Formats: sequence, C-alpha cells, structure tokens
Amino acid sequence: MRKIELLTKSHDREGFDCGSEPLNSFLKQTARQHAARGISRTFVLVEETASEPKPILGFFSLNICQIKSETLSAEEAKKLPRDVSGIRLGRLAVSKTYQRQGIGKALLIAAMGKFMEIFNMAGGIGLFVDAKDLEAKCYYEQFGFVALPSNELELFLPVKTIQEALAQNS
Ligand SMILES: CC(C)(COP(=O)(O)OP(=O)(O)OC[C@H]1O[C@@H](n2cnc3c(N)ncnc32)[C@H](O)[C@@H]1OP(=O)(O)O)[C@@H](O)C(=O)NCCC(=O)NCCS
Repeated sequence: MRKIELLTKSHDREGFDCGSEPLNSFLKQTARQHAARGISRTFVLVEETASEPKPILGFFSLNICQIKSETLSAEEAKKLPRDVSGIRLGRLAVSKTYQRQGIGKALLIAAMGKFMEIFNMAGGIGLFVDAKDLEAKCYYEQFGFVALPSNELELFLPVKTIQEALAQNS
C-alpha cells in the first residue's frame, strides 16, 4: 500500500529523478536541512512495505507564508485584512517512472489534507504555488488554482475550493 511519509533518512533521495534537476537536487540536498531549520516540510509518497532506503514515487513540500491581500483578486481582497497567512506548496514532483498515473493529483490531494490540518489549528486562507512555467501553471489550474493578478505564475487555491475538492475525493 502507498503512504505519504515525512521525509527521513529511510527514503532513497539519491535514486529520485523527476526530470527537473532543481527539484531533484532540492530533495537530495536541501529538503532535510530545511525541515531541521523549520523552513519547510517535505512529504514523500512510498510503498509502505518497500525495503529501505524506500524508493520515492513523488514528493511535495509545504511552508507557512505571509501574503498581502492586495496581491489577490479584488473579490478575495475585500473580505480580508491587509496581511494574511497561507501555506505555500513549495515543490511538487513525481518520479519519471510514475508520471501520468495520477500520482501528482494524489500528492495535491494529500497537500490539501495537510493544509486542512494547519487550517484547523491556526487558520490560513489557502494554498499558494509558484508554477515553474506555463505548462506547470496549466497543470495546477485544472485543480482549481487561480493565477494571481500580480503574477501569472503564482497561483492560489482558496480554502473553500480545498474543502470542496477533499469532499469530492473522500
Ligand atoms: C507535473 C507533475 C507533478 C505531474 O504529476 P503526474 O503524476 O505526472 O500527473 P497526473 O498523473 O496527476 O496528471 C493528471 C492530469 O494532469 C495533466 N498533466 C499531467 N502532466 C502535466 C503537465 N506536465 N502539464 C500539464 N498538464 C499535465 C494531464 O491532463 C493528466 O491527465 P492525463 O494523464 O489523463 O492526461 C509531474 O509530471 C512532474 O513531476 N514533472 C516534473 C516536475 C514539475 O514540473 N513539477 C511542477 C512544479 S511547478
């Protein structure tokens, strides 16, 4: 059975290849340091019963972020104070061997579930993501992410959309 786990030494970071070197090297060199310093948390999808080091099918990372509500659409901004917090999906990647099998979608749903845990403890207006290019932007848009008026490669998934998506996928 597949399971989302917090990245640890028991995972095969060296063997991971999603086809994007910056994402591969984040996982290999940066993710655990960032977790230790409280900068971000990285979660990996693995086969629960795989022998260690467990091959990583895909991963995502999350961190808390601050947003000026004026960077959102006027519709969203008018309901909010000037400074608000959210969660940034800093990285999302799937091993080349497993791409186009729904794993990216499963990781996004898992990230939404993690968002709700944080939302229930401390609030947050939604998930933010920096798409690395227009192709990635299209990928996120199909899940309801909307581009910010100030930057077409920065996208926002409001809490309401997250709750609806989780209800549909439960
Ligand atoms: C982008 C990525 C995370 C998608 O994960 P995935 O598991 O391959 O995607 P899914 O199987 O969940 O895709 C679901 C649907 O999204 C669409 N899709 C998949 N990859 C896409 C891409 N690169 N761009 C746009 N749409 C895409 C397809 O419609 C797909 O459905 P289909 O296979 O039935 O046509 C993965 O390809 C990846 O790691 N790529 C390299 C790193 C990267 O670009 N990360 C994004 C960071 S900004």
